[in-house]
Amino acid sequence: MDEQPVLDIQNLRKYYPVSTGLLSRMIGEQRYIKAVDDVSLTLREEEVVGIIGESGSGKSTLVETVLRLEEPTGGSIRFKRADLTSASKTALRRHREDAQIIFQDPYDTLNPQKTVFQAIAEPLRNFRELEYDELRERTAEILHEVGLRPAEEYLDTYPSQLSGGQRQRVNIARSVVLDPSLLIADEPVSMLDVSLQAGIIKMLDRLKQTIGFSMLYVSHNLPVVRLVADRIGVMYRGRLVELGSADDIIENPKHPYTRALVASLPSITERRDRIELPEQQGKDHELPSGCRFRDRCPDAMAECANRTPDLETVADHDVACFLHHDHGTDTV
Ligand SMILES: Nc1ncnc2c1ncn2[C@@H]1O[C@H](COP(=O)(O)OP(=O)(O)O)[C@@H](O)[C@H]1O
Ligand SMILES: [Mg+2]
Repeated sequence: MDEQPVLDIQNLRKYYPVSTGLLSRMIGEQRYIKAVDDVSLTLREEEVVGIIGESGSGKSTLVETVLRLEEPTGGSIRFKRADLTSASKTALRRHREDAQIIFQDPYDTLNPQKTVFQAIAEPLRNFRELEYDELRERTAEILHEVGLRPAEEYLDTYPSQLSGGQRQRVNIARSVVLDPSLLIADEPVSMLDVSLQAGIIKMLDRLKQTIGFSMLYVSHNLPVVRLVADRIGVMYRGRLVELGSADDIIENPKHPYTRALVASLPSITERRDRIELPEQQGKDHELPSGCRFRDRCPDAMAECANRTPDLETVADHDVACFLHHDHGTDTV
């Protein structure tokens, strides 16, 4: 049976114009940072897809464009049958209830003037018709679920009275209190002390079991993504270069960039040699021709300068690399 995906992203692009020198302006040449460039990805019901890639690879731009917090340059986004690409602001508001995002910085996202109860009750007030007692009850219930117990002790506290980990739990409570179908988490634990990260990740996993949302989980940290994700997508300079089951990506990485990421995992370095990659050449808007990883790639071939490899299915997962594509050297 063909199950309808919760989220269906096709050929999504987000380009940011960059200001360049006088000469380029005089000849009318506009340059762009291709923060997201032709990314296609679907998310099934209750599935968790992890997105990894180094800083600047376009992970945040991807998820923000998916929710139209950033306007796409091209491509399409479907969320539960609805086309978000051209949806009006009013139509988008309705989807906000059902598609939520948690950001990286728990210090930034909570209003210091509002108590925990007020912060969590806000989405309930916007989207549900509840009496005051019911609001208190529902808020206490969700606080309990995110591990802030006993909930009554947290309801009337202010963000400044909480630790970073507790604040991120409040943010998560706020994001899931309306039982969303989609939760996007953009590096939700990377600002927190390492000792707190596993607890929050486990809690997210439990919430997923009870609420049953699908999740896009963004991180630059492969071990963290491995804990939560069913599938992993690897981004490099705006492009999805590999996509497969989490186990497959870790055990059998195909793209040379993914190989280098995996080889740096502590549990793997005992078995394989680390792969040191050279630095990226040029600025973010200056891409090499063809494959944009080729200036750092230990396996680059002549073909890589001529054409850009697309994501193609090879054995059990998808990879955008000519080393694995089966069309010989038919380039001219
Ligand atoms: N609002 C913006 N204006 C211009 N460039 C941006 C903007 N947001 C992101 N970028 C650029 O897009 C690229 C991807 O950034 P980002 O999505 O934040 O990556 P990541 O989340 O993987 O670290 C970077 O080169 C970044 O400098
Ligand atoms: Mg980011």
